[in-house]
Amino acid sequence: MDPRRDIRFLLNDRQVNTAQVAPGDMLLDHLRLDQRLRGTKEGCAEGDCGACTVLVGRLAADRLVYEPVNACIRPLASCDGCHVVTIEHLRGADGGLHPVQRAMVAHHASQCGFCTPGFVMALYALWMTTPHPTEAQIEHALQGNLCRCTGYAPIIRAATAMGGHGTTDPLMAERARITAQLRALQDGARVEVARDGARAILPASVDDLAQVLVEHPDARIIAGATDVGLWVTKFLRDMPVAVLIGHLDALREVRDTEDALQLGALVSYEGARAPLATHFPHMARYWDRIAGWQVRAMGTLGGNIANGSPIGDTPPPFIALGARLVLRKGTARREIALEEFFLDYGKQDLHPSEFVETIILPKPAPGSRHAAYKLSKRRDEDISAVAAGFAITPRDGTITDARLAFGGMAATPRRARAAEAALIGQPFAKPAFDAAAEALTQDFTPLSDMRASAAYRMRAAQNLLHRFWAETQGTPASLEDVA
Ligand SMILES: Cc1cc2nc3c(=O)[nH]c(=O)nc-3n(C[C@H](O)[C@H](O)[C@H](O)COP(=O)(O)OP(=O)(O)OC[C@H]3O[C@@H](n4cnc5c(N)ncnc54)[C@H](O)[C@@H]3O)c2cc1C
Ligand code: FES
Ligand code: FES
Repeated sequence: MDPRRDIRFLLNDRQVNTAQVAPGDMLLDHLRLDQRLRGTKEGCAEGDCGACTVLVGRLAADRLVYEPVNACIRPLASCDGCHVVTIEHLRGADGGLHPVQRAMVAHHASQCGFCTPGFVMALYALWMTTPHPTEAQIEHALQGNLCRCTGYAPIIRAATAMGGHGTTDPLMAERARITAQLRALQDGARVEVARDGARAILPASVDDLAQVLVEHPDARIIAGATDVGLWVTKFLRDMPVAVLIGHLDALREVRDTEDALQLGALVSYEGARAPLATHFPHMARYWDRIAGWQVRAMGTLGGNIANGSPIGDTPPPFIALGARLVLRKGTARREIALEEFFLDYGKQDLHPSEFVETIILPKPAPGSRHAAYKLSKRRDEDISAVAAGFAITPRDGTITDARLAFGGMAATPRRARAAEAALIGQPFAKPAFDAAAEALTQDFTPLSDMRASAAYRMRAAQNLLHRFWAETQGTPASLEDVA
């Protein structure tokens, strides 16, 4: 079948077909410059401030699901088959304000107004499922939105009250029609669009993805674009050929087998939250420290691993759990331990045409104890200075196994082998953790950078081991005994 040569999506209440699209063309520019929908604002152009928040709806197992995304780093081509909802669409049939907007007005939650459309859209996404949220739910939903003049208290008051201003809107009333329209857009074809010689390819299936990557070994994979988007908007990098994969639902599957949790590479941070919390409860609080809602909805586990960053948040706790990767090239697959994937700074064990297909997390051994910690300058929406994942198994009072993994301490996420050796075979008691903390100096020579000094990193990493021990002596919220 010949590839389709245009991108098709619903924008508010009409269909858009567009053929001249490069991989680096972002949804925000399309909205503001081509569609003249200027309610959506550009603040940072790097996914940080939330001013550009729009909702993107897609069919997930035939169910229409809307999520807030940052339009500034969302490639336009990745909107194929989706419903994009902007602030303009919140206007009711009578031209009146939406309940979320009415609440914002009633609580004086806007001053200069620049951030306001983004806040309204994030709150709209919350209102859809949770019209009467708790303060914790509101804070969680707004982690990805910055306001520099109103202050957050009036916004939180508005969010608390928004359910009282109404619980229906046209979008919710028209779900059946929108679902049918989106279904009609799905033709199962490979899509190829281009502008000025730069090509964006959307494979028809995972098998087709494998084939496309064999045909184009130099192509850049784009999953959630929360890294790649910034290469475009901040570093002005060219991408002659990109393969967009965010629509491949088969890579978004979560399989719960007897001995492992298998997560498709496209499972987003948000999508991973519930299955991780079920099997690895120690991850719940850690997960809340990753990015903001928009980035959590877009960013994928596969992207967080494949980018090879020494400060990505998923590798340390996943390595501690003994994670394995399934890598695919053409029809061939190989499985490797996650810790072996990271070879050196910016260098991963990923061959040309190969992609991350699945992440396998073995279920915890009986009696093992786990923890995941993230230290960053800001609590919300900040990158780690140090991140750590620990899995320690005491048996009859003796430590029989220990896996300690750190991010931010070396050029790659890495296990602390000397510290592990200091624990294994020792009584499960404070002296073993004191020795392990001391041994960390053999494992790592951290760098100083804008996030933290080398001395801070080492001290903090050692203190995390002391904290782990201290937490096993009480019952703090951040540590769960998973036996
Ligand atoms: C505002 C903001 C806040 C952030 N906060 C955090 C944070 O708190 N913690 C954190 O760890 N990260 C954070 N990030 C970084 C980012 O969210 C993650 O690295 C994300 O998981 C990347 O996934 P993605 O799907 O967006 O990857 P993309 O940007 O699409 O791709 C990233 C890289 O991975 C490659 N790739 C993607 N999928 C595959 C695959 N299946 N197989 C092979 N290669 C692949 C791409 O080619 C590219 O090289 C933040 C980013 C932003 C913009
Ligand atoms: S403009 Fe700041 S997140 Fe998009
Ligand atoms: S109202 Fe001015 S930045 Fe929020």
